[in-house]
Amino acid sequence: MKHRRVLRAAVTIAVTGALATGMTMVLTTGASAGTTLGAAAAEKGRYFGAAVAVNKLSTSAYTTILNREFNSVVAENEMKWASNEPQQGVFNHSSGDRLVSHAQANGMSVRGHTLLWHAQQPGWAQGMSGSALRNAAINHVTQVASHYRGKIHSWDVVNEAFADGGSGGRRDSNLQRTGNDWIEAAFRAARAADPGAKLCYNDYNTDGINAKSTGIYNMVRDFKSRGVPIDCVGFQSHLGTSLASDYQANLQRFADLGVDVQITELDVMTGGNQANIFGAVTRACLAVSRCTGITTWGVRDCDSWRGSDNALLFDCNGNKKAAYTNVLNALNAGPGIPTTPPTTTPPPTDPPPTTPPPTTGGCSASVSLNSWNGGFVASVKVTAGSAGTNGWNVSVTLPSGASVTNTWSATASGSSGTVRFASVDYNSRLTAGQVAEFGFQGTGSGAGMTPTCTAS
Ligand code: XIL
Repeated sequence: MKHRRVLRAAVTIAVTGALATGMTMVLTTGASAGTTLGAAAAEKGRYFGAAVAVNKLSTSAYTTILNREFNSVVAENEMKWASNEPQQGVFNHSSGDRLVSHAQANGMSVRGHTLLWHAQQPGWAQGMSGSALRNAAINHVTQVASHYRGKIHSWDVVNEAFADGGSGGRRDSNLQRTGNDWIEAAFRAARAADPGAKLCYNDYNTDGINAKSTGIYNMVRDFKSRGVPIDCVGFQSHLGTSLASDYQANLQRFADLGVDVQITELDVMTGGNQANIFGAVTRACLAVSRCTGITTWGVRDCDSWRGSDNALLFDCNGNKKAAYTNVLNALNAGPGIPTTPPTTTPPPTDPPPTTPPPTTGGCSASVSLNSWNGGFVASVKVTAGSAGTNGWNVSVTLPSGASVTNTWSATASGSSGTVRFASVDYNSRLTAGQVAEFGFQGTGSGAGMTPTCTAS
């Protein structure tokens, strides 16, 4: 708490200074790198949250990590319709209230999840249809959003209302069958009940530009044009072993409609790419100024709904994983949210640099090794030069007897002698100074490798 207050004060002073001088300013405090996810995100004007199973708040191993690392929470199940309106008109907010109290006592913001969804409905609603269901649904939105009025940062007003596959249309559900306008009716009811909460539409399989995300994009554009109150779009981001190359571009196109975007349920399949994907998602969010926060769907691997996928940032013993380090580093390296629009102040009068910047920047690579007797894992950082990259290649000459057995986030040609690693679709394009990471595992000794990087 104390730490957060100090940060907020420092940021306020910096912003005031920037406004006074009419400069565009970016919230990169620079002086201190955040040492926890929440602090690092806060320095960049964002939150970093976790989905919480409320009954685990009494497990100290769990709560220790939650309180140390996260500054936002969302109830994994306890604010869903089946949980808080088990009988029609009979509301039970005890678990949700417990989470809100915990958040308030620890300086965390709260995401509300979710007012309406086709899944996890109470039995009584599952059996309803037509205007009876519509009325019950809108009453649910009104009652729940009113109960939490003033306490919720962002509500997932509607969850998962679009169909998978190529149609780009709505998912069939009892709610959808009450009429296509059920979503906007829900948003209007939520706004009336809690005017201070940001109102989000939330969905999955929207991790790039595809038929489903485009269907949602068109709905948001339509809502904005007609004044339907929508403030944000949540991208669940339950991810597998690769990340769409247009993940960031997709976030940006929504932001360009005038809504915030949030990564709301992030978890990633375990395996060689996990840490890289977590890092790439974090960088994508930070590169989009309207991406206001990231939530992982749980705390430790064993808390995750994805079972043996080991999909989170902490292992079952609460240890930080490589994915954690990538996220923290990405948060600390990323840009802050611009706090003022570009201004018309005259250009700086500093003399031009005496040595012009190079016209082609190439790239550089460095390797760090984790070795054991008979094997190693090499982590390679590729840094784009001043021209950025459309693609890159890193060549590494292995010591004799060593060979590559496994590669992630790059494509290897050859396995011994000089091995060439080429960028893959999601990390080819780097802006000047941007860093991509890939890795490989080998047998033998990896000592003394010197990578060389070429950019295209
Ligand atoms: C999941 C919870 O994690 C599980 O505990 C529960 O059994 C099912 O729901 N998309 C969502 C979340 O919006 O609410 C889901 O949460 C995961 C997928």
